[in-house]
Amino acid sequence: MNTIPDPATTQAPTQAAASPAAAGQDGPADAATTIRAVSGEELLTTAYSLWAYAFQSSPVPDETVERRRTELSSGEEDDSRVNLVAFGGGEAEAVVGGISMRHNVRGSVFPMVGISGVATHPGARRRGHVRTLLTRMHGQMRDSGHVLSTLYPFRQSFYERFGYVGFPKPRHIRLEARGLERMLRVDVPGEVSIHRIGEVFDDYYALLQTLLGERHGFSVFNRAGTVGVAKENKHWIALARHEGEIVGALLYRTNGFGEELQGQQLLTRGPIGRTLLLQWLARHHDQYSSFTFQLPPDERPDLWYVDIAYDDETKVSGPNHSAAMGRVLSVPGLAGIATGGARATVEVVDDPFVAGTWTLDGRGGTLEVTSGSAFGGNGAGTGATARLTSHGLAALVYGVIDPAELMLQGYGTVDAETAQALRTIFPPAAPYLFSGF
Ligand SMILES: CC(C)(COP(=O)(O)OP(=O)(O)OC[C@H]1O[C@@H](n2cnc3c(N)ncnc32)[C@H](O)[C@@H]1OP(=O)(O)O)[C@@H](O)C(=O)NCCC(=O)NCCS
Repeated sequence: MNTIPDPATTQAPTQAAASPAAAGQDGPADAATTIRAVSGEELLTTAYSLWAYAFQSSPVPDETVERRRTELSSGEEDDSRVNLVAFGGGEAEAVVGGISMRHNVRGSVFPMVGISGVATHPGARRRGHVRTLLTRMHGQMRDSGHVLSTLYPFRQSFYERFGYVGFPKPRHIRLEARGLERMLRVDVPGEVSIHRIGEVFDDYYALLQTLLGERHGFSVFNRAGTVGVAKENKHWIALARHEGEIVGALLYRTNGFGEELQGQQLLTRGPIGRTLLLQWLARHHDQYSSFTFQLPPDERPDLWYVDIAYDDETKVSGPNHSAAMGRVLSVPGLAGIATGGARATVEVVDDPFVAGTWTLDGRGGTLEVTSGSAFGGNGAGTGATARLTSHGLAALVYGVIDPAELMLQGYGTVDAETAQALRTIFPPAAPYLFSGF
């Protein structure tokens, strides 16, 4: 049964509803609104209804609802997921989901909350529900040790209001079969084996854990959140090994003779893994016209081999093809990330979680964070000043915007001396989030 509240019976927006949102307070959208975490079977009549209406075909057939009820009542809940729901007059009006996962920032792995399933019933929109829920989620997750948050926006400017900065978009490549046979002549140590994903899920998950430790921006769900691909068992996986270690993997499906081989992410730990996987694809060069897969945003396929031919089909467009965004939830929590050797004091403004004056010291090769200025006052004594928004801070930490460009985006003002120090502490980098949610 469709349990979405009827727009006609939901309360009209009130003055009281508008004010907390406008003030950015973490309070209910109006006096009659209550917010709480929902789990188990109650998700069916609350979060699931709102998600179905916002993101899926709806009304949802009764048999699908019953199947979900059975899944939810089985008691096998994934404890990495939190769903906060806003209720007005007893009905669920809005939901924000948080997925606890691990995330690499400049070589250190942190707890991170992935925001997903953000939806408000059309009858209750623009009343501050999502502002309240998201602020509550950020605070709750920060207090339980989550240092960062990421998400995939339907529109970037919506989440820009909440302090998130954009990441570079991973690339979608269509590699032409023509020319690929050259790879077969490369003498590369190692071998490739091919399996159904369900048979080798442990190997695949182990590779994800390794990449989590090695690649900036990478994120991994817990095992329960990842194992769905093995349960579905709809993909082949090519595993590349070198000296007994897995150095690359590609999940894919074939699409009929002469058509395309449809890959997911081309995961590699370096050029040996990549070359082994390309050799595997090259074995199909007469069978398929092209090979599609996703690459990290900083990958350079144009330099992979002579005579390479590919189309870059990367699409950046909301709501379904947006680039991810990220923000910092705790500045002291960032201590320990790899840095260049410089020190700067920054003042972060207009944010409930990261505002304050912080001294960021990278002179020992890893970040030390202290509250306040190392120079006495806010940068006094050096003449240095940096005033950043939450986005400005996140842009530096993730390495996506040069300090001198922050002003152009409205993310802060930084004088030349401090810009140079910040550029040294946080060199440019390309976060690759990997997990989709
Ligand atoms: C987008 C959506 C979640 C917003 O929910 P909401 O409860 O109406 O949001 P709020 O009232 O808390 O608004 C928060 C802020 O965003 C602004 N805002 C709301 N909807 C907006 C929109 N569609 N575009 C731009 N800004 C918007 C509000 O003015 C408010 O600004 P302020 O707090 O700075 O004054 C809701 O419209 C929805 O469910 N849409 C369909 C599903 C969807 O797209 N979900 C997001 C997936 S990433």
